[in-house]
Amino acid sequence: MSNAFYAPGEPRAAKVNDLFAAIARRYDLLNDLQSFGLHRRWKRRVAKLAAAAPGTRALDLCCGTGDIAFALARRGAETTGLDFSDKMLEVAVARSRKQKASTSSSQLATPKFIQGDAQQLPFPDNSFDIVTVGYGLRNLASWERGLDEMFRVARPGARIIVLDFGKPPNSLWRKIYFTHLKISVPLIGWLFCGNAQAYAYILESLKHYPAQLAVAEKMRALKLANVRVINLLGGAMAINYGEKPAGSF
Ligand SMILES: C[S@@+](CC[C@H](N)C(=O)[O-])C[C@H]1O[C@@H](n2cnc3c(N)ncnc32)[C@H](O)[C@@H]1O
Repeated sequence: MSNAFYAPGEPRAAKVNDLFAAIARRYDLLNDLQSFGLHRRWKRRVAKLAAAAPGTRALDLCCGTGDIAFALARRGAETTGLDFSDKMLEVAVARSRKQKASTSSSQLATPKFIQGDAQQLPFPDNSFDIVTVGYGLRNLASWERGLDEMFRVARPGARIIVLDFGKPPNSLWRKIYFTHLKISVPLIGWLFCGNAQAYAYILESLKHYPAQLAVAEKMRALKLANVRVINLLGGAMAINYGEKPAGSF
């Protein structure tokens, strides 16, 4: 895997964009295969923790094909999904159309999808009650910058939630899990998507991402309230949760 993926700034963004353009059509299928369908449960958990409800405004960053955005919208939040990959967004929009066509309810809330950069959000400060990102922060040229932007557009009292691959604290489990990411995940990528390299990228990107503990530390540095780490599968996945304190602008 080329080091160009990890060069700061635009070169990395362009590489990551090419990668998701290449796998967009098979992305959902591969997620199901690689996580044994568990990613759906974790994403629903994000929407539940977010307390998405009618009357709330939600933003899902790096929304990809829209799983978390749909989960937030299903709970009644007025939801925007943002991603920089037009190919991933095409899949999200097609899912949205399909969902609308297959339901008789004119009340069905579906997310709005827009193209944009998670590191430079096109929204004013204090705009959303919920700001989420799933499997996205790790892909940014600067994950800290991504969190700063999430904080900026969140309203005081807003829930800020990050779901991503984690680093298990137990060293034996960490070895087993990294071996799965190194061998079986690229193999499944190759078998079902013809692209092993795109999936080998997960482990590489994780090596360059300090994961749940550093995200929690950064949330505390931003003075978020009720900062929590929820480890899933012994920390192989993690949800970071925090609330923008009331009175902070
Ligand atoms: C692994 S996918 C996650 C998709 C979705 N959130 C999910 O959980 O299934 C990562 C997404 O991040 C997007 N992405 C990466 N860097 C981005 C950036 N700087 N701005 C916006 N989207 C970005 C990619 O296009 C891709 O769709």
